[in-house]
Amino acid sequence: MAKPGGVNAGWNSRIEGNAPMKLTDHEKAMLDGTQGRAKARAMDLLVRYGEALGAERLVETNNVAGAFNASTPSVRELARKGFDAVYSELNLDSPEVVEVPHMVANTCQLITGIDNEQWRVQGIPEDLAEQQKQGEKFFGSRGINMLATCTPYQVGNVPVKGEHCAWMESSAVVYCNAVLGARTNTEGKESTGAAALTGRIPYWGYHIADNRRGTHLVDVAVDVDDVMDWGLLGYYLGEVVDDGIPVLTGRCRQPSLIKLKHFGAAAASSGGVEMYHIPDVTPEARSVEEAFGGNRVSATVRYGEAERRIAYENLNCATDRGVDFVMLGCPHNSIDQVWLIASLLEGRKISPNTQLWVHTPRALREVADRNGYTKMITEAGGFVMSDTCPAISRHMPKGTKVVATDSAKQAHYLPAITGVSAWFGSVTDCVEAAITGRWSGGLQ
Ligand code: F3S
Repeated sequence: MAKPGGVNAGWNSRIEGNAPMKLTDHEKAMLDGTQGRAKARAMDLLVRYGEALGAERLVETNNVAGAFNASTPSVRELARKGFDAVYSELNLDSPEVVEVPHMVANTCQLITGIDNEQWRVQGIPEDLAEQQKQGEKFFGSRGINMLATCTPYQVGNVPVKGEHCAWMESSAVVYCNAVLGARTNTEGKESTGAAALTGRIPYWGYHIADNRRGTHLVDVAVDVDDVMDWGLLGYYLGEVVDDGIPVLTGRCRQPSLIKLKHFGAAAASSGGVEMYHIPDVTPEARSVEEAFGGNRVSATVRYGEAERRIAYENLNCATDRGVDFVMLGCPHNSIDQVWLIASLLEGRKISPNTQLWVHTPRALREVADRNGYTKMITEAGGFVMSDTCPAISRHMPKGTKVVATDSAKQAHYLPAITGVSAWFGSVTDCVEAAITGRWSGGLQ
């Protein structure tokens, strides 16, 4: 969500006033408990949350993407009391354990901490892996679709332009807003838990058309073409515009789903970008004028060769060229990306000193299996993993000190979270590092 004091601080001027939200009769009935204790708790949370934000009302949502199936060690105790207790505490902030009914809104599980099949490779204790499987049964039976990925838009959850959503996960949020033209703020476990049970979310921030207009004009003065270029551009812009809304002009070639996935994830890592426009590409900006919609241009940002180099150097914190671990698939890989990795590995073997993990949604893993891509990767010595990633699970191959990745987001977070050092480069650089055990990538 936008940071206080950021360029969007003018949103919802009633934040100070804390006026009560206007509720419909249906919402009042849920709050009063006439539709059960779970919905009463959910509405109580949404009213407290909405009023703290200064929202005047709630808006209907039928698309929720949240984190329900928690399987961290800290949840062990709670899970012993049952999954109603887990949902009550973690997804409704409720001291009262309520019986969880079937979800009202279409709801999906985002990424989790554990690969249900390859948890041993991750180094996850068996009891936690079992806890996650039991959790899946419970939450699945309540209508939470187990997509288990940070890219639900790659596996069937594709909201349409203007649709009000309640999504977590910064890389998914920026994709939802900017690329699909649907509307969401960056929600949390609790607000998505409440939204799933009520079909409501506070109407503020990016739900409001006026808050979706551009703030920064970006002059892209170098060619931005491949996935690595788009990651670098996103990483640079996130640092510069913070929670602003960049409008990209200049030499960015026609992007694809994969490139925009990496661009948004990078911009939402170094900064708080939740929305951007590329005139003639993204759906709310047929022109630069429409992207700004009458907004004042708060700053113009030039992205040239020097800025590209700054982003690259900021992402590459490693000095040791020996690579222990190569991580590909942040955000989770598309099937085309899995194919590219498989083709680069064909007939080759990964270094005995290096591990390669390739992450993709489980639904795409099934396609990779059927196409023979998984076999090509595993025959080279790599693993194809689903449901999780190292930044979320905090699990990497034992003893990892140096990681290589094609993801600006993973290169940003893994050193901060785990203390490893990172190399960032193209997928070709990373596959070569997996084969040789050494980093030889660089900026072209
Ligand atoms: Fe997804 Fe994990 Fe990256 S949640 S965006 S693979 S840090």
